[in-house]
Amino acid sequence: MRELIAKEEKQFVREHPKSKALFKRGQSVLLAGVPMSWMIRWAGPFPIFVESGRGARITDVDGNTYVDFCLGDTGSMFGHSPKPVVDAVTKQIRNGITMMLPNEDSIWVGEELGRRFGLPYWQIVVTATDANRHSIKFARIATNRSKILVVNGCYHGGVDEALVSLKGGRVISRVAGAGAPVDPSVTTKVVEFNDLPALEKALKPGDVAVALFEPAMTNHGIILPDEGYHDELRRLTRKHGTLLLMDETHTLSCGIGGYTREHGLDPDIITMGKPIAGGVPVGAYGISQHVADIAHKFLIDDVDESGIGGTLSGNALSIAAMKATLQKVYTEANFKKTMPLADRFTAGIQNAITAEGLPWQVTQLGIRIEYSFMPRAPRNGAEVDAFKDPELERLMHLTALNRGILLTPFHNMALISPYTTKKDVDLHTEVFEESVAALVR
Ligand SMILES: Cc1ncc(COP(=O)(O)O)c(C=O)c1O
Repeated sequence: MRELIAKEEKQFVREHPKSKALFKRGQSVLLAGVPMSWMIRWAGPFPIFVESGRGARITDVDGNTYVDFCLGDTGSMFGHSPKPVVDAVTKQIRNGITMMLPNEDSIWVGEELGRRFGLPYWQIVVTATDANRHSIKFARIATNRSKILVVNGCYHGGVDEALVSLKGGRVISRVAGAGAPVDPSVTTKVVEFNDLPALEKALKPGDVAVALFEPAMTNHGIILPDEGYHDELRRLTRKHGTLLLMDETHTLSCGIGGYTREHGLDPDIITMGKPIAGGVPVGAYGISQHVADIAHKFLIDDVDESGIGGTLSGNALSIAAMKATLQKVYTEANFKKTMPLADRFTAGIQNAITAEGLPWQVTQLGIRIEYSFMPRAPRNGAEVDAFKDPELERLMHLTALNRGILLTPFHNMALISPYTTKKDVDLHTEVFEESVAALVR
C-alpha cells in the first residue's frame, strides 16, 4: 500500500506545480498555508488550489479538471454556482447586502421551510453551527435544564458541547475540542447511536434539555437508524421532558424536506445549513410552537445581546440565495434526476466489492453515498472507529484525485449534484475498480 501511495504522490506533485508554489507562499501568511486549516486534510502532500468551480466540475490552477463528488462537503450539494442562485445573488448584490432589516422574501423563505419541514417558526443565520448553538440555548431556556445529549461519532459544527466522544463509557473532549470552556462531561451526555437502553438511561434523571441528533449519522460514515429507533427516540424524549433536535444539515440529501419529511419524524427543533442557499453561507432553524412561546418572551427582554443572533444573520443576500435555491435548485425535479445516479454510483461500488470479495461495505442516504472498510454497515460510531484505516483511505483518495475525481477529504463520501452525469458516475466506478485491482493483485 505504501508503494502505491508513494507512486500516486509522485504523480500528484508532478501534476500540481502551481498549487505547490502557492501552498509554500501561503504558509508565510496563513495558518497552515490555507485560509481554513482543515483544507490541508486532502489526500495529497499539499492541497490543490482552485481556479474555478462550475456545476459538478472543479478546475485547479494547474489546469487539471476534476469531477467533484465532494461538492464542498455538502455546501455545494446542488452544484457549483447554480444559475438561479447566481442570478438572484447578482441582482440582490446591487440592492443591498446587509441592511439589518427584514424583507418580504424572508417571509417566503420561512413559509417554504415550514411547508417542507413541518415546524411553524424559523430563524435564518449564517452557518449550521450557529443554528445548532442558538437552538441549544433556546432548548435550555425552554426546559430550564442544562445538559445536552449527543451520539458518539457525531459532528454538529463548532458547538463546544458536541465536540465529544465516548471512550470506555466516559465522555471526553475531542482533540479539536480542546479549548472548550469546561470539561464536556459537565455539559454533555453521549450514547451510541441505535442504543435504546443507553438512551433511556441518559434521559431518565431528567436533566437533559435537548437531544441533538442527526436523523441518520453522516459524519462517521453513514449510519442508518434501526427500524423503530426514531419512534422510540421520540417517545423517550417526550416521556422524560427532553426536546428533540434533528440536525438535517447533511440529511437534506434525502429529499426536499430532509430525512424528517421522508420518514415522517416529529422533532421539536430542526437545524440546517450548507446547501440550503446553493453554496452561499446560510443556516436556519425551525422551532415548535411550545419552544417559540418561551423563546419569544426571552427575546423581547434581551433582544440585542442575548447571544442568539449575529449581525449578518438573515442578511438580504443570504435570503435571496436561499429563496432561489428553494424555488429552483433544491427541488423534487432535481432529486428525480440525481437519485437514479446515486443508485448507479452505489451499485458501481457494490459490484466491485462483490467481484473482489472485499470485506467492505457501501451505504446510501439519498444522493449521499459512502463506503468503508468494514464487512457490514455500521450501527454506531464505535463500530466505525474499530475499522478505520487512514492509510487505505488516503490511497483511495489520492488514486481518485490523480484520475480526475474529488471525494470529500474526511471520509469516503460522495454526493451527486444535478450537474453530475452518468459518465461522471461511471468514471468513478472505473477508477474505484482500478484502485481495488491494484490493491488486491
Ligand atoms: C451534521 C452537521 N451539522 C452542522 C455542521 C456545521 O456546519 P458548518 O460548519 O457549516 O457550520 C456540520 C458540518 O459538517 C454537520 O456535518
